[in-house]
Amino acid sequence: MPHIIAPSVLSSNFANLQADIEMINASEADWFHVDVMDGVFVPNISFGFPVIKAIKKLAKKPLDVHLMIVDPDRYAQAFKDIGADMLTVHYEACTHLHRSLQNIRSLGMKAGVAINPHTSVHLLEDCIEDIDLVCMMSVNPGFGGQKFIENTYNKVIALKQLIARRNSKALIEIDGGVDLNNYKKLLDCGADVLVAGNTVFSSQNPLETIRTLKK
Ligand code: DX5
Ligand code: ZN
Repeated sequence: MPHIIAPSVLSSNFANLQADIEMINASEADWFHVDVMDGVFVPNISFGFPVIKAIKKLAKKPLDVHLMIVDPDRYAQAFKDIGADMLTVHYEACTHLHRSLQNIRSLGMKAGVAINPHTSVHLLEDCIEDIDLVCMMSVNPGFGGQKFIENTYNKVIALKQLIARRNSKALIEIDGGVDLNNYKKLLDCGADVLVAGNTVFSSQNPLETIRTLKK
């Protein structure tokens, strides 16, 4: 399967969101990565339902919604209602992760689990069959434009082995600090999905940067 590129809307220009959404529509990118932060699970607040609704109206590609919030179960139905195609909850925010994943799937969305840089991939051993997407944080969640954590490569290799051993179909998504210097090595280690915020939106030519990441 060719790898997937998911530009992160967090780094787009909120004063002209429409232009950036249309750019992604016209690009070779595959998904929109949508970061929701509550100021409790992470030390930052991003945006909520009204903004995502506006994005959904214009977006011609699936919405990959990454919840950096406590108690994400409370909002799963609401995210389905506004058009999330994939819903990712944090391992560290879910007491009953298995139940949360089943709930997301039963609502008709792909179920994702995000793990912080300190969280071992081995903790997913007993629910990997219930996961469609593992969002591996390669920075501490909360902000765009941070420096990539090098230990991520080892984690991708270990997760790839775990997925193969358990016969799971989960995709490995890398989120944070993905750039033109590290993306090839991430793909070689087994990444399936690359999120890119700063690398796409601060580049001179975002369309060209997406094309390069997609090659
Ligand atoms: C970080 C978010 C990321 C972020 C990535 O908490 O989950 O999706 O937007 O941005 P870059 O690619 O700039 O690190
Ligand atoms: Zn994210």
